[in-house]
Amino acid sequence: MTRVLTGITTSGTPHLGNYVGAVRPAIATSRASGVESFYFLADLHSLVKVQDATRVQRSTLEIAATWLAAGLEPDKVWFYRQSDIPEISELNWFLTCVAGKGVLNRAHAYKASVDRNRAEEEDDDAGISAGLFMYPVLMAADILLFNANKVPVGRDQVQHIEMARDFGQRFNHLFGGEYFTLPEAAIEENVATLPGLDGRKMSKSYDNTIPLFAPREEMRKLIASIVTDSRLPGEAKEAEGSHVFQLYQAFASAEETAQMRQAFAEGIGWGDAKQQLFERIDAEVAPMRERYHALIARPGEIESILRDGARRLREKYATPFLAELRQAVGLRDLSHRSEAQDKSLQKSTPPSFKQYRDTDNRFYFKFLDGNGVLLVQSNGFDSPKEAGQLIAVLKRADQADAMETPEINLLVPVQEVLTALGQLREADA
Ligand code: TRP
Repeated sequence: MTRVLTGITTSGTPHLGNYVGAVRPAIATSRASGVESFYFLADLHSLVKVQDATRVQRSTLEIAATWLAAGLEPDKVWFYRQSDIPEISELNWFLTCVAGKGVLNRAHAYKASVDRNRAEEEDDDAGISAGLFMYPVLMAADILLFNANKVPVGRDQVQHIEMARDFGQRFNHLFGGEYFTLPEAAIEENVATLPGLDGRKMSKSYDNTIPLFAPREEMRKLIASIVTDSRLPGEAKEAEGSHVFQLYQAFASAEETAQMRQAFAEGIGWGDAKQQLFERIDAEVAPMRERYHALIARPGEIESILRDGARRLREKYATPFLAELRQAVGLRDLSHRSEAQDKSLQKSTPPSFKQYRDTDNRFYFKFLDGNGVLLVQSNGFDSPKEAGQLIAVLKRADQADAMETPEINLLVPVQEVLTALGQLREADA
């Protein structure tokens, strides 16, 4: 079973580019056999960019509704909200403590911000939050907590997956176990990057997007506004390099695409081409749009789908795995001595007697267990010989009444002293 995991930052309204580049291929993958899929709303990550509570909430709702409307089946895949899994935040700290700061210094997003500051002759880190700097560590926690094998991402995220491997490997090495599977980036080569209204890559940061669930008439108007050259109807047009054509291709079958290529060569007018593009997109989007609006109208249902996903996922993987990781790093129940500790105790250091002369010039001894814990403290003797004689007696003692001498004080129950004396005899034998 291959585990495939993807996070979607909840910082905006889904557009056609998100749908074609991420949602549609991910849902196709989730239906493949031999794959266990994890899709989550990276709302903790969104806080790095967005400090507008209403927008975070709205975007989370819209993105969740989009995935469900597009056909994600929450009973067949893991579908959850990052902030509903507290184990992610806890692992984030464990990884923070193994991540090299120098590795994070080289993260592209952070470096780009530093470069902008330098260009503007600002302080290197002006306006950069520690959250932006730590972004790759939180992302590593998302991935490593579920031991994902493959992470489908765009090229801009490949470095983050490499960092997740690095942090996971360091943790495995430091704590001496194969705790984490090292993930691989899966770059979707044959997934189209859509052009936006102005021809640059469709992206919220260029403000050139077509919202996936824009009302029909608004979608038509937006498509009509895509920039083209000024060739007239009847003039032959290049299909390759045309943004209208690229968008059409992303939604059409091979046959429909071939027909459109032909129409371009025969001089279809831009108005007609855009109308056909609109109809083609609408044919795919309309049924989803209806489901989307039905879902958005019942946010409580989405809320319970997400909570239910997180609850089951925590129970099955996150909570038990984090318990193991807490053991690994030493966040342990103090009343349980780990087996390893007990073994090392017995093997390396048996209990021992220590004789010494104190500042009062009298002679004393102590009896300590293998961890150096004081079990017996003697009173003062006039000579080392007297102290040694009592030690010799104690070394042979296997009855509680042998401890009943005024010369010594027991600091633990007598039974523990007898057990330790037995261990000492075993070690001496
Ligand atoms: N950083 C990713 C993006 O901006 C979102 C993300 C957060 C993510 N955690 C992840 C993607 C874990 C894949 C795996 O697109």
